[in-house]
Amino acid sequence: MTTTVNSTQKWTQLNIDQKIGLVPTMGALHQGHMSLIHQSKKENDITVVSIFVNPTQFNKKQDLKSYPKDLERDLALLCKAKVDYLFAPDYDALYPYNYRYKVSDCKMAKILCGANRPGHFDGVLSVVMKLLNIIKPTNAYFGEKDYQQYILIKDMVQAFFMDVNIIPCPTVREVSGLAMSSRNLLLTPEQLEVASSFYHHLKADASIEEIKTKLTEQGFVVDYIEEHFGRRFGAIHYANVRLIDNVEV
Ligand code: PAJ
Repeated sequence: MTTTVNSTQKWTQLNIDQKIGLVPTMGALHQGHMSLIHQSKKENDITVVSIFVNPTQFNKKQDLKSYPKDLERDLALLCKAKVDYLFAPDYDALYPYNYRYKVSDCKMAKILCGANRPGHFDGVLSVVMKLLNIIKPTNAYFGEKDYQQYILIKDMVQAFFMDVNIIPCPTVREVSGLAMSSRNLLLTPEQLEVASSFYHHLKADASIEEIKTKLTEQGFVVDYIEEHFGRRFGAIHYANVRLIDNVEV
C-alpha cells in the first residue's frame, strides 16, 4: 500500500510499458468492487486499486462522517485477489491546492443525482482526473450501478483528450436483487430485505408515477425516478441511507 503521490508516480514511470488497469474506489469493498478488479486483472498486466473517501463529492458532512470504512478488511480482500498495487492517499496528498481547482460538467451533472446533490459530480470528476493523471492507466473500470458517474467520466476523458479507456462493468446484486453498495453496511438485515424491493419496483412494467407511489407506500422517500439513455434511474432514502440503482428499459 502506498499513500504518497510521489512514490506512486515513480512506480507508474517504472511500469510505463505495462498495461495498467485502475479501479478507483472509496473502500468498504464488496463483490461489486471485486467484479471490477477481476475484470481488470483479466484485461491488464497490472491492476491498481485506489481507496480514498473523497470529501469533495459529499455534500452532507454527516454522510461523509458515517461513510463505512474498514481498511484492514479491504487489504485482506485485495491481497486475496492478488491486486498488484494499492494507492490510498490522504486528503493533503491528493489536494495540494486544497479544492482551488475543480472539473465541472455544466450539463449532465445537473440532472438525476446531480440535481439532488449539488457539487457531487464536480468532486467525483476532479478526484478521478487526479487519479488518472497519477496512475496513467491504459484502462479504468467503473460500475454501471453508478451509470451517471460512468457517463460523466467517459465524456470527461474525451473532452480533455485523456489517453485512457473507460470500461463499464455490470451491476452486481445480492440474491434479493438489491444492488451491492458500501452504504448497505449501514442497514440492518431486516432493512436490507425491505430495501431490496427498490430494485423490483424499478424494473416493474409500471409507469414512473405508479413506481413512485408504490415506493412511498413502502416507507421510502423518493428522490427521483426518471428515464434517460434507455435506462430507468432511481434514488431513494431509507433509514437515513441514500440508495441508487438503474435498470435497462
Ligand atoms: P465507490 O462507491 O466505492 O465505487 C467504486 C466503483 O465500484 C464505482 O465505479 C462503482 O460504480 C462500482 N460499484 C459499486 N457498487 C457496484 C455494484 N454493485 N456493481 C458493480 N459496480 C459497483 O464510485 C465511487 O466509489 C467514487 O465516486 C469514485 C469513482 C471512487 C470517486 O471517488
